[in-house]
Amino acid sequence: MPAGRIYLETFGCQMNELDSQLVQGALSARGYSFTPDSDAADVILYNTCSVREQAEQKVWSRLGELKRAKDARPALVVGVLGCLAERDGADLIRRMPVVDILCGPGELDKLPALLDNAVRTRAALPPDSARASARQVALQGSASRRSATLAAAADDLEMLDLSRAISPTDHSGSAYVRITRGCNKFCTYCVVPFTRGAEVHRPPEHIIDECRRLADAGVLEVTLLGQTVNHYRFEHDHATAVAGVTQPQKGRAYKGSHHRDALEGERVTTFAGLLRRIHDEVPSIRRLRFVTSYPRDFGNDVLEVIRDSPRICRYLHVPVQTGSDRMLRAMNRGYTLAEYEEFLARARAYLDAPGRPLMLSTDVITGFPGETDDDHDATMGLLRRARFKNCFIFKYSPRPGTVAFDRLPDDVPGEVKRRRNSELLALQESISDEVSRAQVGLTFDVMVEGVSRKALRESGLTHGEIRRAAGAVALTVAGRTVAESEAHDHACAGEHGCDARSHVLAPAPEGPVQLSGRTDGDQIVFFDAPAGVDAARLIGRILRVRVERAHRLGLHGVITGN
Ligand code: 5AD
Ligand code: SF4
Repeated sequence: MPAGRIYLETFGCQMNELDSQLVQGALSARGYSFTPDSDAADVILYNTCSVREQAEQKVWSRLGELKRAKDARPALVVGVLGCLAERDGADLIRRMPVVDILCGPGELDKLPALLDNAVRTRAALPPDSARASARQVALQGSASRRSATLAAAADDLEMLDLSRAISPTDHSGSAYVRITRGCNKFCTYCVVPFTRGAEVHRPPEHIIDECRRLADAGVLEVTLLGQTVNHYRFEHDHATAVAGVTQPQKGRAYKGSHHRDALEGERVTTFAGLLRRIHDEVPSIRRLRFVTSYPRDFGNDVLEVIRDSPRICRYLHVPVQTGSDRMLRAMNRGYTLAEYEEFLARARAYLDAPGRPLMLSTDVITGFPGETDDDHDATMGLLRRARFKNCFIFKYSPRPGTVAFDRLPDDVPGEVKRRRNSELLALQESISDEVSRAQVGLTFDVMVEGVSRKALRESGLTHGEIRRAAGAVALTVAGRTVAESEAHDHACAGEHGCDARSHVLAPAPEGPVQLSGRTDGDQIVFFDAPAGVDAARLIGRILRVRVERAHRLGLHGVITGN
């Protein structure tokens, strides 16, 4: 059996984190082991993101650094997985001869075979000839191959999710479960429909079964994943099975708006129905969350299920992208600002309750082609009114292959993008601060995520070293990135000129161990572990914490019970 030590690094979104976990499970089952030390690895895999150029640049520079390692260790196998591989495969191979394996996000089920081949060929061939001839490639080539053949052939990618290895010891109380893959929206700036392909929905039985197996292994919190989760829809009358396995189903064009309740029948599972079933059928999941919600087609049926299900979190991440109707049209978002704000008001009317506030967050792109000061002011106005818990702000990054790249010149100058970006950030920071302070005095159930780290100042470490350190700590402490660095990575990725050193965290040198966790509104909470208690054992538990003070980055509290 082929074997080797693998260093796997994940860039980008939660979908990628889940893909990496599944890949890790599949490769472990074939005898590979994993190491957090890239120097000790026989195989280096990067699971990449393509959503912004900045995310891609990180991977390019990592690959550049590998040239020397590969010269010293010719048997080293290097694989690029995920969206960058899919979007830019040919160029990657041309510019980066160190790359042996390319595997798009829709082909990850093939990775074990590709890796076995690469390792075997590498061992058999002299180093010079090995490079070109041993290269292993699996890309969709176009977004639709898999979905086009979906009805006729077994969807092997589904098998990767289905055969997920779940062990009681390798989670930190929290897990992701995919409900849909891909996206059909084609927002004009976005590369996702091209890299992850057309939308498909997993059969509800598969999803519920996965939730149950996770709960049986001790997972308390499940986050359902999809690019537009509220479009989830499975029509049982049209279900197909291959070799006894129900197949995922292609997404259809969405027509309904609020009146989706009527669609929920015996033969159709909508998102509302799916949420209700998971909540009711797997009650040992104490927290059920989902990302990402699309602002259109979010029916009252979903809000009612959330309201009536105590274990569903009071947190919605609903990207708005811009507060300007003109820009919304140019982005092909399919809703107006008034419709978006109507949705926020409706969500608050259903879900905001004393002592259990509804928390909302969003994404904004600043400097989209043609954006004027008036458009920017409209976005500022929206942030003032909407009072998001937090907002991830991104400078527009033209992505090859998208409609905006082909048809809309990137005409907002860099300095204007930067100025608008900082204005939005400053405004949101003061709002986040106020939203946090309003929680003082409340007591929350807090899911403990990790040992908190204090800011690493004047460390002299580079951004890359800090990131790697944060990753390594997360790996050994909680199996996932600590809350603050996660928030930092997603929110700025170094893009708005922030100094990573003031965000990333290091172990507190002395004193009580500080823990970090989240409320069910997704607010980060810091609190001290009780004296004499092994802090690491609290990770993955849910504790009652009373909030005593707060600022924009989180709440500080004391444990009052569990
Ligand atoms: N430029 C900047 N931000 C983008 N996003 C997606 N594509 C781009 C792009 N080309 C942002 C959107 C999305 C988030 C995941 O990334 O805000 O919601
Ligand atoms: Fe991209 Fe729009 Fe789909 Fe989100 S909904 S993944 S922004 S195309």
